Amino acid sequence: MNQYVTGAVIKQLREKNKMTQLQLAEKLGVSDKTVSKWETGKGYPDITLLEPVAKAFRISVTELISGNTIHNENVSSNMLRSKFYVCPVCGNVLHGMGEAVIHCHGIPLNPIEAEASDEKHLIMIERIEDEYYVRIDHDMTKEHYISFIATVSLDSIQMIKLYPEGNAEARFKIRGVKKLYWYCNRDGLFFIDVVKGIDDREGSHDHMQEQRELEMTAKMLFG
Ligand SMILES: [Fe+2]
Repeated sequence: MNQYVTGAVIKQLREKNKMTQLQLAEKLGVSDKTVSKWETGKGYPDITLLEPVAKAFRISVTELISGNTIHNENVSSNMLRSKFYVCPVCGNVLHGMGEAVIHCHGIPLNPIEAEASDEKHLIMIERIEDEYYVRIDHDMTKEHYISFIATVSLDSIQMIKLYPEGNAEARFKIRGVKKLYWYCNRDGLFFIDVVKGIDDREGSHDHMQEQRELEMTAKMLFG
């Protein structure tokens, strides 16, 4: 273990949970002076206390040690909250239905913030039968290229990995697609909300009905 829980993290979690030092101390069977020592960096909680401390804050020991707590609500009900993580060393691409603590090559990866496309990363979307044909006019050299294109709907993701010297293009099934993402290894993640309209009206599938049903199921499951 090359990392351990810090006083700053304990203090932050305690305050977030609206607990006094005494209230936390009582839960753990230690004195409030001990908690104060941890928070001011004059001591560490014994390793046998890590689990009880994590439990007191309703988080995992991993989150406690990393200081990176995750708040996911109704993750399984809506893939539109998808997060993408990219390792800057090897280019590994990871997808999460919500936030997660992810490491690659020993580097903690943060979810990438997607931006609206800029003029150097414009996307062209064409409808061909039941598919979207997507193309980005962009370099595809080893140094600078589009690394993946993905679409997200309420209940699915389609991701195409691209490689240098290839074409920055892909095809996706139209069904339910709400968002399109594309990632440039130098300039980051871009997105576009796929325009609703013709596609939804023409399809035999009622997406609004589908969305309402998914939301109702989520409500039943998660309250
Ligand atoms: Fe770029």
